[in-house]
Amino acid sequence: MTSFRPLVVILFATAGLTAAIAQEAPQVTRGELMEEIGKSTQVLGKMVKGEQAYEAETAVEALTTIIDDIGEFTALFPEGSETGHETRALPAIWEKKSEFEQHAQDLQDAAMKAREVAPAGKEAFAPAFQEMGKVCGACHEDFRAKKS
Ligand code: HEC
Repeated sequence: MTSFRPLVVILFATAGLTAAIAQEAPQVTRGELMEEIGKSTQVLGKMVKGEQAYEAETAVEALTTIIDDIGEFTALFPEGSETGHETRALPAIWEKKSEFEQHAQDLQDAAMKAREVAPAGKEAFAPAFQEMGKVCGACHEDFRAKKS
């Protein structure tokens, strides 16, 4: 039996290496995506409120970030990622998956609409931005835990 030992050692070493080069935890990645969505939304909000000059190009860029990020978001809730890394994901995400995914789709649609009207100026953009904001709240209401 002793002759098998080196093989076992090699297998363990390989497993360790795989873990080291594995991607960061989905809980972390999805938090980062939402963080970025939040920052982009803040920029848009400042422009709508007049705290920052309205620039169509900046709006389009921020909305493109939101569209890309929400496109990746719902794939980051595999079984086993319900807890850990201070996630605020609620069990409802796994219990009502299609409803959750619909909210993500709604955000994508709302952000695309806002991106379409952004070049027409702030007057046209503001109502589309308000509509998009409602989608954030609707999903958080049922699927994100309140801050502890
Ligand atoms: C499809 C549902 C959904 C939509 C739509 C959504 N969110 Fe979230 N959001 C979540 C969930 C779930 C979390 C918690 C993720 C976690 O902790 O694992 C979260 C977390 C966040 C966070 C905290 C990030 C952190 O570090 O924990 C911010 C900020 C945020 N969302 C902003 C927004 C904004 C702004 C919008 C709209 C433009 C939006 N979200 C739309 C589900 C959604």
